[in-house]
Amino acid sequence: MTVHFIGAGPGAPDLITLRARDLIARCPVCLYAGSLVPPEILAHCPGGAKIINTAPLDLDAIVAECVAATQAGQDIARLHSGDVSVWSAMGEQMRRLRAAGIDVTVTPGVPSFAAAAAALGTELTLPGVAQSVVLTRTPGRASAMPERETLANFAATGATLGIHLSIQNLDDVVADLSPTYGPDCPVAVVWRATWPDQRLIRGTLATIGGLVDEEISRTALILVGPALAAEGFAESCLYAPDYDRRYRPQSADSQWYKGVTDDV
Ligand SMILES: C[S@@+](CC[C@H](N)C(=O)[O-])C[C@H]1O[C@@H](n2cnc3c(N)ncnc32)[C@H](O)[C@@H]1O
Repeated sequence: MTVHFIGAGPGAPDLITLRARDLIARCPVCLYAGSLVPPEILAHCPGGAKIINTAPLDLDAIVAECVAATQAGQDIARLHSGDVSVWSAMGEQMRRLRAAGIDVTVTPGVPSFAAAAAALGTELTLPGVAQSVVLTRTPGRASAMPERETLANFAATGATLGIHLSIQNLDDVVADLSPTYGPDCPVAVVWRATWPDQRLIRGTLATIGGLVDEEISRTALILVGPALAAEGFAESCLYAPDYDRRYRPQSADSQWYKGVTDDV
């Protein structure tokens, strides 16, 4: 018997994978992580499935549910919001399950940073502006940050930052990033990306604090970096008319006719 960890996406019920939907549909037990997993996704569970909200459970209780189900010969769909590779607590659950001899699989989901970028209609990596995206957070009550993972350190790279679990710390985020990025650096706050009541708030480090109202709490992502509002960025070489590449050799002398294969 197996526990299937499944990314349930950012909120819109049609933003899960076909694999996720099919797995959910064949597991007689479903454990889901609280209010961020929409009821429409739970509707894929088979009739009579045991469906458990794990928000009020501790780790011991979650593992006990998994052990009981697998001992009863039942597979489990374990749903977490977005993708399971970030801030899902999958790691600690897997460690316990493996120690108990229970098999696990992982099915990825659409992460909230990708949903937020889509809602903004923005590419987070632009040639000559930013070629890295840092997914991070600020310290919370339950989670300290490793010493070197400060916003100031990440800002020093000029990357686009996707700051999770931090809307309640917006003032600190602005204070930490302003010295490096400057007050005019673009910021976007995306609240409930892909939900019916999604909101997009665009500003700068200087203005964003005054634009975010009290409704914007909890399920919000803060995106920061020059790429968010860049206009005059260079075009990538990849689609340049004269760029010699494997799929578009430019002449009979092209390296691609000479057996060179390191496409970059
Ligand atoms: C516990 S973490 C889960 C992250 C999730 N595993 C992912 O892939 O995005 C919850 C945080 O993710 C962000 N988040 C999750 N869903 C979101 C959404 N639909 N819109 C905006 N931010 C979201 C928020 O920053 C929220 O505080």
